[in-house]
Amino acid sequence: MSDRPPTTWAGSTHAQVELPPGDYVALGLALVRPDACFPFLTAGDRTLSDWPFLRREIPHTFYVDRRQPAVGFVSRDEAHILYNTARRFPGVGALEIGCWLGWSACHLALGGVRLDVIDPLLAEPDVYASVRASLSAAGVFGSTTLVPGFSPGRVFELAGLHGRSWNLFFIDGNHDAPAPLADAKAVAAVAPADALVLFHDLVCPAVAEGFAHFRALGWRTMLYQTMQIMGVAWRGAMEPVAHVPDPAVSWTMPPHLADWPVAGG
Ligand SMILES: C[S@@+](CC[C@H](N)C(=O)[O-])C[C@H]1O[C@@H](n2cnc3c(N)ncnc32)[C@H](O)[C@@H]1O
Repeated sequence: MSDRPPTTWAGSTHAQVELPPGDYVALGLALVRPDACFPFLTAGDRTLSDWPFLRREIPHTFYVDRRQPAVGFVSRDEAHILYNTARRFPGVGALEIGCWLGWSACHLALGGVRLDVIDPLLAEPDVYASVRASLSAAGVFGSTTLVPGFSPGRVFELAGLHGRSWNLFFIDGNHDAPAPLADAKAVAAVAPADALVLFHDLVCPAVAEGFAHFRALGWRTMLYQTMQIMGVAWRGAMEPVAHVPDPAVSWTMPPHLADWPVAGG
């Protein structure tokens, strides 16, 4: 936790939302705070995770579920990039790969998209119940379809057998090579001409390899300088949200991401 004072400002359709100390959300992004829908949400201890690509030096709060404190959620700022991106495209189909306990899914669904979520852990009754309870508490369970199973298989199955289509994608699944590239290839294969893809944890080179697939295919791409670095790839009529990295942080960029444009940079 940092000693940053609480931040308060108004989102465009929300009452005033106060952010706890240690949180940053880029100015200009509408705020939402579904914390009460996640009764086990807590500020985590980064030393409990042995993942080599966790940016332990970033002073923003590392949120976890206290039942599984070694697994992190997207940060408050990253959650707001998801939420504000979804708000730009109300009612469109969206696909999330890798929901864990539903924190990122909740922010996407609160943004007003129709969300399909793929995660193998949803086959576990207690995980499914937890995600369902959180999304229900936030009032978005009805606009979300939880699909137990693995990407990329389930992506092709939903698109092919079930005719699901999506313009917005969020990839935060298996981070080990070659899984992120396989996710990216699946998403690129099913994406329509107007599409936008958000990719979490580009600090990890194997994840960045997946993100690079979109650039190789001619999509426009940009980085968001956030706790774990998010990427956005887009084409057609969809445009990403603007973002200003926390000016209080001395940001660095890993060498494998050095040649990408950075939002607000
Ligand atoms: C870091 S967690 C996601 C965190 C979540 N996006 C959030 O911030 O709230 C990664 C998730 O990816 C899931 N996952 C792993 N392999 C997957 C696959 N092949 N397809 C879909 N999800 C997968 C894991 O079960 C885990 O829940």
